[in-house]
Amino acid sequence: MKNYRTHTCGQLNNSDDGKAVALSGWVHSRRDHGGLIFVDLRDRYGITQIVADPTHDKDAHAMLDSVRPEYVVMISGSVRSRPEGMRNERMATGTIEVLVNEVSVLNKAKTPPFEISPDREVNEELRLKYRYLDLRRERMRENIIVRHKVIKLIRDFLDKRNFLEIETPILIKGTPEGSREYLVPSRLHPGTFYVLPQSPQQLKQLLMVGGMDRYFQIARCFRDEDQRGDRQPEFTQLDLEMSFVDEKDVMEVNEALMMELVSKFQPDKKILKTPFPIITWQEAMNNYGSDKPDLRFGLKFADITEIVKNCGFKVFADAVSKKDGVVKALRVPGGASYTRKEIDEFTETAKIYGAKGLAYATKNGGEVKSPILKFLSSDEQKAIFDAVSLEDGDIVFFAADEFRTACESLGAVRLACARSQKLMDESLLAFCWVIHFPMFEMSKEDGSINAAHHPFCSIQEEDIPLLGTDPLKARAKAYDFVMNGVEVAGGSIRIHTPELQSKIFDILRISKDDANKRFGHMLEAFQYGAPPHGGIAWGLDRLVMIFQGEPNIREVIAFPKDQRARDLMLDAPSQMPEAQVKELHIKLA
Ligand code: AMO
Ligand code: AMP
Repeated sequence: MKNYRTHTCGQLNNSDDGKAVALSGWVHSRRDHGGLIFVDLRDRYGITQIVADPTHDKDAHAMLDSVRPEYVVMISGSVRSRPEGMRNERMATGTIEVLVNEVSVLNKAKTPPFEISPDREVNEELRLKYRYLDLRRERMRENIIVRHKVIKLIRDFLDKRNFLEIETPILIKGTPEGSREYLVPSRLHPGTFYVLPQSPQQLKQLLMVGGMDRYFQIARCFRDEDQRGDRQPEFTQLDLEMSFVDEKDVMEVNEALMMELVSKFQPDKKILKTPFPIITWQEAMNNYGSDKPDLRFGLKFADITEIVKNCGFKVFADAVSKKDGVVKALRVPGGASYTRKEIDEFTETAKIYGAKGLAYATKNGGEVKSPILKFLSSDEQKAIFDAVSLEDGDIVFFAADEFRTACESLGAVRLACARSQKLMDESLLAFCWVIHFPMFEMSKEDGSINAAHHPFCSIQEEDIPLLGTDPLKARAKAYDFVMNGVEVAGGSIRIHTPELQSKIFDILRISKDDANKRFGHMLEAFQYGAPPHGGIAWGLDRLVMIFQGEPNIREVIAFPKDQRARDLMLDAPSQMPEAQVKELHIKLA
């Protein structure tokens, strides 16, 4: 039996002076100082300096001379304090070294395709292909450790509050969350498919019907959607569901959990406001042009629709005359110094969200300048600039369009301006709840009505009559949890009666037949005594990403997919042997 180590590479310090120890790990670096050889030995816990002295032990010195970076070695020796001046107080083990008297090479290593060093920028494709090497780097190691600790805290917190952790199946039937689904062909039932869950939504509701009362799961979700920095085809939710609750109950538990997470993982950050502000979707759009407003900075919109509805600037007057038409204004302090080129870039940003243009005015030395000034009467000018409180050195941008387009495009400009003016205070955590989301939205392509989130959200009681008259105005009992402009979680109180659920399917033009085929199990379950219930799901990867200050969620996932949904290390997806495909009753086109 081998005794590979008595300590880890992050453990030894001055109090161990003189101890005989054994360490195992990877050769991080090796330096030859004319006679003395120094090796930094690394494992998950840290780095310890090993020194070989030929006058102390010739064989050990020769062995240590032969090792190369990333060799796996085991050493034994004695701990000694480093001489004065050679100490590194920033390292946990920086005041000691181990004088080696035995070295065994447990495994050799090829020269790695990149250096295992925190300082070196490495091409991401290479990092993903050799993820097991990337995981040896401090950045990844820290992220994975924090992820573990976050999940551990969540489990302990919810366990204390009577939640049960329950696994739900991965091979299921489709559950709509607005994305394309991954299908798994069945061998035993030709021509049929399992669907990988976009979320455990229906199963957690059925757990409530099953009387489980409080459920949670660290749940894997699968969504075949276009990739972005904050999305993966396979990602993890903290999913939870509760019985006999209303919005405030779910929000309270989750806010308390967030406060505990933040105090542990972001102890140095200031929280903008507690309890977290609650903003309606309407207010969020109206004031910030986003359903996930970044509240670390102000830049609130002013509404000038009434002022300009009859003005001489056709763009404004025409927009107001249309259904839901508005004119929104955004004042940016200090923005008068933006160059033509910068303003053009903001205009392009607005256009991505459907804006047809981006009018603006600046004030400098008491004088207002704007290409649209000549179309506005002096009263209109005064009213507009009063409404936005225009001051010297400012710029004000205008968006005129149908409500959502105007708000969303100006919202994008708001973020771009905050970035360029460096208004995002990195030491601040700004949380808010956004509530009262619209239940439905109209498809821009074909005018059809879709569930804005999923078809299981309940409706604000006072809006239920709207389902028969103007469903697009009906507000869901839904809430999103927003942190520094990122949607970290979203959920709702659910429908728990078959009547209301059928009504929603009707509005979505899901026929009785189709509803029974796709969701018959839900409609049926609701007939056997479903309790009122609701819940939420957090994007766990997104949360850890923010805690770790990482730019994308790939950095906090051990084995992520690349931007094109490939696993570069395993080389997946990949072709399958013909026989295996045939067995699944599949013919490739
Ligand atoms: P939703 O679809 O809003 O709700 O998802 C909940 C949270 O999951 C995160 N998220 C993602 N993270 C990484 N990659 C993705 N592709 C991705 N998609 C979503 C977001 C989001 O807030 N069943 C409902 C929840 C409920 O109603 O209880 C659901 O899945 O942070
Ligand atoms: P135009 O009359 O098209 O030359 O536009 C005059 C100014 O109004 C330009 O600065 C445009 O970017 C801006 N503009 C055009 N359409 C809109 C709109 N829908 N909302 C806000 N500004 C607009």
